[in-house]
Amino acid sequence: DELPRLLRDMPKCELHIHIEGSLEPELIFALAQRNGVALAYPSVEALRDAYAFTDLQSFLDIYYAGASVLLKEEDFFDMAMAYFRKAAADNVVHAELFFDPQTHTDRGVPFKTVIDGLTRASETAQRELGLSSALILCFLRHLSEEAALATLEEALPYRDQFIGVGLDSSERGHPPEKFARVFARCRELGLHLVAHAGEEGPAEYIETALDLLKVERIDHGVRCVEKPALVERLAAEQVPLTVCPLSNIKLCVFSSMDQHNIGALLEAGLKVTVNSDDPAYFGGYMNENFDAVFNGLPQLGPRHAYQLALNSIEASFASDEAKSAWV
Ligand code: HPA
Ligand code: ZN
Repeated sequence: DELPRLLRDMPKCELHIHIEGSLEPELIFALAQRNGVALAYPSVEALRDAYAFTDLQSFLDIYYAGASVLLKEEDFFDMAMAYFRKAAADNVVHAELFFDPQTHTDRGVPFKTVIDGLTRASETAQRELGLSSALILCFLRHLSEEAALATLEEALPYRDQFIGVGLDSSERGHPPEKFARVFARCRELGLHLVAHAGEEGPAEYIETALDLLKVERIDHGVRCVEKPALVERLAAEQVPLTVCPLSNIKLCVFSSMDQHNIGALLEAGLKVTVNSDDPAYFGGYMNENFDAVFNGLPQLGPRHAYQLALNSIEASFASDEAKSAWV
């Protein structure tokens, strides 16, 4: 059977990875020791055992606790390099990384520390691994729009170190329109725009993210199926959806992979892509997500694999020149 090899070897882009979600328990403990930070868990095993989530919030609580060990530029560099090595091993040729500056600046870590560490890792990955990458700054939607606007101001001196903005954290009760002004400002600045929508929140959030925030891609978006007219629109407009299969299972968005709608969305002509979201927490990096999808949905074959990889390249914010080298 050639499918496992095709899934592994085909060049692909990763468009939905929270770099703080790539922090493995072993690195959390190593950084805690290096920085003298106390952890609520006695061992790597005890921490990993706590990774049993019931919904998005139960994950976010432990994800923010894990990020508390990140203090120095070197910490952000080490975290991102560990991810880039995993991605390169999965034949990811280009990765667009989300980062959550507010998680760090609210603990007193300077914005510059965060973005300089990530930027240095990105440059090192290009040079040493031949992997291209870019950064997307995410606003935390459980915080206020004023806090997002303040974060944007703090980020502007580093405008050339990130390509766009996104919206993540607790979705329900924090609709896209809460961030209409900050996204309008980012649009004027020429930043790329994306937002998490329709993961746990309703299909309407996908529509308002498109219509009010004017995002270019939807992160997750799997709840679009609750509105047939929206599914038709997403297909007609070829709006990319950055789907995260293992994440959806771990956060109980779907009960098991055979219940996942990624195959149906792909068959309906939507521009869906496969991504890892928070690989250290959800049980796998890029190729583990591809394997889980193709094992769970046996109706999918090489034609679907090729389409998913092509979609990821086309939906990326890489240059046309770079894209043509990957297809
Ligand atoms: N959803 C929302 N916010 C997040 C996620 C996610 O899957 N991962 C990290 N922050
Ligand atoms: Zn996400």
